[in-house]
Amino acid sequence: MPRIQILVGSEMGTAEMVAASAKDYLESSGFEAIVNPLPEVADITDNPDDILLICTSNTGAGDLPGNIQPLYLGLTRDFPCIAGRRYGVINLGDSSYATFAEAGRAIDHAMCELGAERVGEPLVLDACSGDDPEAAAIEWLGQWTTAL
Ligand SMILES: Cc1cc2nc3c(=O)[nH]c(=O)nc-3n(C[C@H](O)[C@H](O)[C@H](O)COP(=O)(O)O)c2cc1C
Repeated sequence: MPRIQILVGSEMGTAEMVAASAKDYLESSGFEAIVNPLPEVADITDNPDDILLICTSNTGAGDLPGNIQPLYLGLTRDFPCIAGRRYGVINLGDSSYATFAEAGRAIDHAMCELGAERVGEPLVLDACSGDDPEAAAIEWLGQWTTAL
Protein backbone atom coordinates (compact mmCIF):
# COMPACT_ATOMS: atom_id res chain seq x y z
CA MET A 1 0.00 0.00 0.00
CA PRO A 2 1.34 3.49 -0.77
CA ARG A 3 2.39 5.73 2.06
CA ILE A 4 0.25 8.72 2.99
CA GLN A 5 2.18 11.89 3.76
CA ILE A 6 0.16 14.37 5.82
CA LEU A 7 1.24 17.93 5.03
CA VAL A 8 0.33 20.10 8.01
CA GLY A 9 -0.35 23.82 8.26
CA SER A 10 -1.15 24.88 11.79
CA GLU A 11 -0.89 28.07 13.79
CA MET A 12 -2.26 27.06 17.18
CA GLY A 13 -2.18 23.28 17.08
CA THR A 14 -5.69 22.22 16.05
CA ALA A 15 -4.71 21.08 12.55
CA GLU A 16 -1.68 19.37 14.06
CA MET A 17 -3.97 17.46 16.44
CA VAL A 18 -6.26 16.49 13.57
CA ALA A 19 -3.22 15.32 11.58
CA ALA A 20 -2.03 13.16 14.49
CA SER A 21 -5.47 11.54 14.78
CA ALA A 22 -5.56 11.05 11.01
CA LYS A 23 -2.18 9.30 11.15
CA ASP A 24 -3.41 6.95 13.90
CA TYR A 25 -6.58 6.21 11.96
CA LEU A 26 -4.72 5.58 8.70
CA GLU A 27 -2.27 3.25 10.41
CA SER A 28 -5.08 1.33 12.06
CA SER A 29 -6.59 0.98 8.58
CA GLY A 30 -3.39 -0.63 7.28
CA PHE A 31 -1.71 2.39 5.64
CA GLU A 32 1.73 3.69 6.36
CA ALA A 33 1.36 7.36 7.31
CA ILE A 34 3.70 10.17 8.28
CA VAL A 35 2.99 13.67 9.57
CA ASN A 36 5.09 16.41 7.98
CA PRO A 37 4.93 19.58 10.12
CA LEU A 38 7.27 21.61 7.87
CA PRO A 39 6.18 20.71 4.35
CA GLU A 40 8.10 21.82 1.29
CA VAL A 41 7.85 20.90 -2.38
CA ALA A 42 10.89 18.61 -2.15
CA ASP A 43 9.04 16.44 0.38
CA ILE A 44 6.50 15.74 -2.36
CA THR A 45 8.83 15.42 -5.34
CA ASP A 46 11.40 13.29 -3.45
CA ASN A 47 8.65 10.81 -2.52
CA PRO A 48 6.83 10.23 -5.80
CA ASP A 49 4.82 7.27 -4.52
CA ASP A 50 3.30 9.08 -1.54
CA ILE A 51 -0.37 9.96 -1.53
CA LEU A 52 -0.70 13.44 -0.05
CA LEU A 53 -3.11 14.68 2.57
CA ILE A 54 -3.06 18.43 3.15
CA CYS A 55 -4.34 19.24 6.63
CA THR A 56 -4.23 22.99 7.14
CA SER A 57 -5.89 25.71 9.10
CA ASN A 58 -6.46 29.32 8.01
CA THR A 59 -5.01 32.36 9.71
CA GLY A 60 -4.76 36.14 9.32
CA ALA A 61 -7.25 37.13 6.65
CA GLY A 62 -7.43 33.95 4.58
CA ASP A 63 -3.72 33.20 4.92
CA LEU A 64 -1.95 29.89 5.29
CA PRO A 65 -0.09 29.23 8.54
CA GLY A 66 3.61 30.10 8.36
CA ASN A 67 4.80 26.50 8.50
CA ILE A 68 3.01 25.52 5.27
CA GLN A 69 3.75 28.73 3.34
CA PRO A 70 7.05 27.37 1.93
CA LEU A 71 5.07 24.57 0.29
CA TYR A 72 2.52 26.98 -1.18
CA LEU A 73 5.25 29.33 -2.42
CA GLY A 74 7.12 26.42 -3.99
CA LEU A 75 3.98 25.22 -5.76
CA THR A 76 3.07 28.63 -7.14
CA ARG A 77 6.59 29.87 -7.96
CA ASP A 78 8.50 26.77 -9.09
CA PHE A 79 5.70 24.81 -10.82
CA PRO A 80 7.00 21.40 -9.72
CA CYS A 81 6.05 18.35 -11.72
CA ILE A 82 3.30 16.83 -9.59
CA ALA A 83 0.77 16.03 -12.32
CA GLY A 84 -1.23 12.94 -11.47
CA ARG A 85 -0.27 12.95 -7.79
CA ARG A 86 -3.26 12.00 -5.67
CA TYR A 87 -4.16 14.18 -2.71
CA GLY A 88 -6.91 15.09 -0.27
CA VAL A 89 -7.62 18.25 1.70
CA ILE A 90 -8.72 18.85 5.28
CA ASN A 91 -9.35 22.60 5.58
CA LEU A 92 -9.87 23.99 9.09
CA GLY A 93 -11.42 27.43 9.32
CA ASP A 94 -13.96 29.51 11.14
CA SER A 95 -17.08 30.81 9.42
CA SER A 96 -17.07 33.98 11.54
CA TYR A 97 -14.24 35.17 9.25
CA ALA A 98 -15.18 36.72 5.91
CA THR A 99 -12.25 34.76 4.48
CA PHE A 100 -13.69 31.44 5.64
CA ALA A 101 -11.52 28.51 4.49
CA GLU A 102 -9.88 30.61 1.73
CA ALA A 103 -6.31 29.56 2.43
CA GLY A 104 -7.15 25.88 2.25
CA ARG A 105 -8.96 26.52 -1.02
CA ALA A 106 -5.92 28.39 -2.36
CA ILE A 107 -3.51 25.50 -1.77
CA ASP A 108 -6.05 23.04 -3.17
CA HIS A 109 -6.27 25.25 -6.27
CA ALA A 110 -2.46 25.41 -6.56
CA MET A 111 -2.22 21.59 -6.49
CA CYS A 112 -5.01 21.28 -9.03
CA GLU A 113 -3.40 23.85 -11.38
CA LEU A 114 -0.29 21.65 -11.48
CA GLY A 115 -2.34 18.64 -12.52
CA ALA A 116 -2.45 16.86 -9.17
CA GLU A 117 -5.62 14.79 -8.79
CA ARG A 118 -7.73 15.47 -5.76
CA VAL A 119 -9.49 12.42 -4.39
CA GLY A 120 -12.95 13.35 -3.11
CA GLU A 121 -14.22 16.71 -1.96
CA PRO A 122 -12.20 18.61 0.64
CA LEU A 123 -13.33 18.31 4.23
CA VAL A 124 -14.05 21.83 5.50
CA LEU A 125 -14.16 22.07 9.29
CA ASP A 126 -15.78 25.10 10.90
CA ALA A 127 -14.49 25.95 14.38
CA CYS A 128 -17.84 27.74 14.96
CA SER A 129 -19.85 24.56 14.50
CA GLY A 130 -18.95 23.02 17.84
CA ASP A 131 -18.19 19.71 16.09
CA ASP A 132 -15.20 17.69 17.24
CA PRO A 133 -12.67 18.22 14.40
CA GLU A 134 -10.83 14.94 15.04
CA ALA A 135 -14.01 12.86 14.97
CA ALA A 136 -15.22 14.65 11.83
CA ALA A 137 -11.85 14.06 10.14
CA ILE A 138 -11.89 10.36 10.96
CA GLU A 139 -15.39 9.96 9.58
CA TRP A 140 -14.34 11.73 6.38
CA LEU A 141 -11.14 9.65 6.14
CA GLY A 142 -13.23 6.50 6.07
CA GLN A 143 -14.74 7.62 2.75
CA TRP A 144 -11.51 9.15 1.48
CA THR A 145 -9.48 5.97 1.95
CA THR A 146 -12.17 3.93 0.22
CA ALA A 147 -11.89 6.25 -2.79
CA LEU A 148 -8.08 5.95 -3.03
C1 LIG B 1 -5.84 35.25 14.23
C2 LIG B 1 -6.74 34.23 13.54
C3 LIG B 1 -7.08 34.43 12.23
C4 LIG B 1 -7.93 33.50 11.57
N1 LIG B 1 -8.28 33.72 10.26
C5 LIG B 1 -9.12 32.86 9.65
C6 LIG B 1 -9.52 33.09 8.30
O1 LIG B 1 -9.13 34.05 7.65
N2 LIG B 1 -10.37 32.19 7.73
C7 LIG B 1 -10.86 31.12 8.41
O2 LIG B 1 -11.63 30.36 7.84
N3 LIG B 1 -10.49 30.87 9.69
C8 LIG B 1 -9.63 31.71 10.33
N4 LIG B 1 -9.25 31.47 11.62
C9 LIG B 1 -9.77 30.29 12.32
C10 LIG B 1 -8.78 29.12 12.37
O3 LIG B 1 -8.40 28.69 11.07
C11 LIG B 1 -9.44 27.94 13.10
O4 LIG B 1 -9.72 28.32 14.43
C12 LIG B 1 -8.58 26.70 13.09
O5 LIG B 1 -9.28 25.62 13.67
C13 LIG B 1 -7.26 26.91 13.84
O6 LIG B 1 -6.41 25.83 13.60
P1 LIG B 1 -4.89 25.81 14.14
O7 LIG B 1 -4.99 25.75 15.65
O8 LIG B 1 -4.31 24.56 13.58
O9 LIG B 1 -4.21 27.01 13.64
C14 LIG B 1 -8.42 32.37 12.29
C15 LIG B 1 -8.04 32.20 13.62
C16 LIG B 1 -7.22 33.12 14.27
C17 LIG B 1 -6.86 32.90 15.72
